[in-house]
Amino acid sequence: MAKKNIDDINPKGKRVLVRVDFNVPLDDNRNVTDDTRIRAALPTIQSLVDRGGRVILMSHLGRPKGQVKEEFRLEPAAKSLSTLLKKPVTALKDCIGDEVKNAVNAMQDGDVVLLENLRFHPEEEKNDPAFCKQLAELGDLYVNDAFGTAHRAHASTEGVTRFFDTNVAGYLMQKEIEYLVGALETPARPFIAILGGLKISGKIDVITNLLEKVDGILIGGAMAYTLLKVKGIDVGDSIVEVEKLDVAKETLAAVEAKGVSFLLPEDHKAATEVKDGIEPQVIDAQSIPTGLKGIDIGPATIKRYEEEIAKAKTIVWNGPMGVFEIPAFAEGTIRIAKAVAASNAVTIVGGGDSVSAVNQIGVSDQITHISTGGGASLELLEGKVLPGLAALSDK
Ligand code: 3PG
Repeated sequence: MAKKNIDDINPKGKRVLVRVDFNVPLDDNRNVTDDTRIRAALPTIQSLVDRGGRVILMSHLGRPKGQVKEEFRLEPAAKSLSTLLKKPVTALKDCIGDEVKNAVNAMQDGDVVLLENLRFHPEEEKNDPAFCKQLAELGDLYVNDAFGTAHRAHASTEGVTRFFDTNVAGYLMQKEIEYLVGALETPARPFIAILGGLKISGKIDVITNLLEKVDGILIGGAMAYTLLKVKGIDVGDSIVEVEKLDVAKETLAAVEAKGVSFLLPEDHKAATEVKDGIEPQVIDAQSIPTGLKGIDIGPATIKRYEEEIAKAKTIVWNGPMGVFEIPAFAEGTIRIAKAVAASNAVTIVGGGDSVSAVNQIGVSDQITHISTGGGASLELLEGKVLPGLAALSDK
C-alpha cells in the first residue's frame, strides 16, 4: 500500500494544508498533558517549514458536536507546538471564512498557522462538500498526517482530497502504514497477536481478520472470560458479555477450523472486587470459583505467554492483560510489556490502554512502533479500509 508522501511534493512558496491529529489531553488549566501526538507530527511540519512551505495545520479536538465550545479550542496545542518547533505558531479563531483567508494570504514561506477546531462546524463530520471546498481553497497542496483520525470519513480527512490532484501522506502517516499494514501484509514469522482489554465485542472482528494472517493469538483481559465461558469453563463472577456469547462461540469455531494457535489464560489473579487495597488470590486453574472475579492473568499464563513472545518475529499487541491501573492487578500487563520489549521481534503496540501501559512501565523506547491511533489501528487490524488512507494518492 505505497502512498505518495511529502518527499514527492515541492512545498516551496506553497500553501500546504496539513491535517494533523492534535486531539490531545488537556488539564483543568488547559495545558497539554501528553504531547505525544504533537511530537509525532513534528518531522512532517519541520520538513515543510525547512523547505519553505506555508504550513496551514488543521485538526479536531474532542467531540464538541458542531458547536463552538471554549474548552475545545486548539490554542493550547498551538502553544505546545510552538515550544517544540521553536517558532511562532498562530492559532486562528476559525477554520474557514474571510479572516482565516486573510491570515493565510499574509503568510510568508516557513510560517505555521493552526486553524481552529474543525468540529466546531457540524459540516466537518458530515463531510459536507461546500465545507470541504472552503477548506481546500486555503491550500495549494494537501498532506494528511492524522493517522489517529484516518478511520473517519470527514471533510478534512476525506472530502477535501477531491479538490486536489495529489494527496500525500506525512511522515507519521507513512510510518504508521509501513508498520501496521506492513505487519499484516508481509510479517516476519512467527507472527503473533496479543489481544486484551475489557470487551470481546470490540475484538471479535480483529480476531476474525487476524486468523487469516497470524500464527498465534494470545488472549488476556476481561474479554478472556467470555471466551472461557463459551468453552464451558466456570468463570465465577468474572465479567461476561452475555449478549456476545453466540458470536464468541462462532469465533471460537472459526479459530478451531483455521487451526491457529489460540491461547486463553490457564490461571488467574482473582478477587471479590476490582479496587485498590484488595489483595488478589492466585487461582491455579482455568476455572474460577463463584464469588470471585478473574482480573489479571496468572503466573502460569504469564510464563506460557512469555515463551511464545520470545519465539515470535512479529508481534502486534492491543489491550492490557488485566486492570493495570491498580498495582495488585498490573503484573500480567507489566510482564507482557517487558517480554514484548525484550523480544527480537518487530513489535507494534496500538490502542490507548496498551500504549499507556508501555509508557507507564518505561519500555516504550524498546518497542519498534507505538501507534498514535487507537480506533484507527484497531480498524486496520479488523481489516477495514481507512477512508483517510484510501484517499491518499498511490505511488
Ligand atoms: C482519537 O483520539 O482516537 C482520534 O483523534 C479520533 O477521535 P474521534 O474518536 O473523536 O473521532
